[in-house]
Amino acid sequence: MRRLDLAGGTAVVTGAASGIGRALAASLARRGAHLVLLDRDADGLAAVAARLGAVPVTTHVVDLADADAVAAVAAAVRERHPRIRLLVNNAGVALSGRFDQVTTEEFGWVMDVNFRATVLLCHALLPAVERGGHIVNVSSIFGIAAVAGNTAYVASKFAVRGFSEALRQELAPAGVGVTVVHPGGVNTAIAATARRGSGVEEAEHAAGTREFSRLLRIDPARAAEVILRAAERRRARVLVGWSAKLPDALTRLLPGSYGRLIERAARRTADRAVRATARRSG
Ligand SMILES: NC(=O)c1ccc[n+]([C@@H]2O[C@H](COP(=O)([O-])OP(=O)(O)OC[C@H]3O[C@@H](n4cnc5c(N)ncnc54)[C@H](O)[C@@H]3O)[C@@H](O)[C@H]2O)c1
Repeated sequence: MRRLDLAGGTAVVTGAASGIGRALAASLARRGAHLVLLDRDADGLAAVAARLGAVPVTTHVVDLADADAVAAVAAAVRERHPRIRLLVNNAGVALSGRFDQVTTEEFGWVMDVNFRATVLLCHALLPAVERGGHIVNVSSIFGIAAVAGNTAYVASKFAVRGFSEALRQELAPAGVGVTVVHPGGVNTAIAATARRGSGVEEAEHAAGTREFSRLLRIDPARAAEVILRAAERRRARVLVGWSAKLPDALTRLLPGSYGRLIERAARRTADRAVRATARRSG
């Protein structure tokens, strides 16, 4: 497949009001793409669009957890942009809590935003994707390595990975590429805005959020460049940062037991969080 040329093409990006999506919008604008940006955060989206300079930008405020709203926004996008060169399913949410600490509704909400919306948008927008076009689906390192305390997020991101890898094989004959992205820790709002599972104590949630946020070190602008270069080169998958590359290697070296090592590291992190909370409270 030819290298993806984004100049002058239409690029649809979900979750564009913050973090990796906002950085992707900026990188795509620098490449001369026409932007269609989706997010539930109207103010954030307007602020991003205002900073993008001269490229044509359309914004859509939509809650991707709502299947009817996704169908409506996809129809509106197709009507206005009958030819799409790049679709980036980037929007995502996190939820704190072990499986027994979250309700099935909370679990379903994570699946709806992270996985179902990705599937629905691929399905609805695929007929508009040009031959030679490309789809990028953002999974996570947690779509390769499972961790305790995040069953919903892990399930959603493994699902994005499996879906994307199968879709890539199906779309290759039609000349449409697919890249699945596995970021490590990128410095965004994902941990700070994570929803608290209803069985998780507030202090436990706050401590977990703080510790998790400390692991998010990669500059979103750098992550966006890595992602777009991978798409331009039609890579099947891209690992963003060492915080993705090391766990990925671990899962391949120790496929049956990597979980124990990750659990030990997570327990050390949790103990640190508890000690830090105790120090703060006196
Ligand atoms: N930051 C990381 O370390 C990291 C690591 C692995 C994977 N990811 C993935 O990267 C993607 C981008 O996340 P980020 O880190 O930039 O987080 P972020 O919270 O900064 O940005 C996520 C964006 O998605 C939007 N969004 C969330 N739910 C939505 C909904 N229901 N409808 C519409 N928009 C919605 C938010 O408003 C926000 O603008 C996510 O899929 C996330 O799971 C992030």
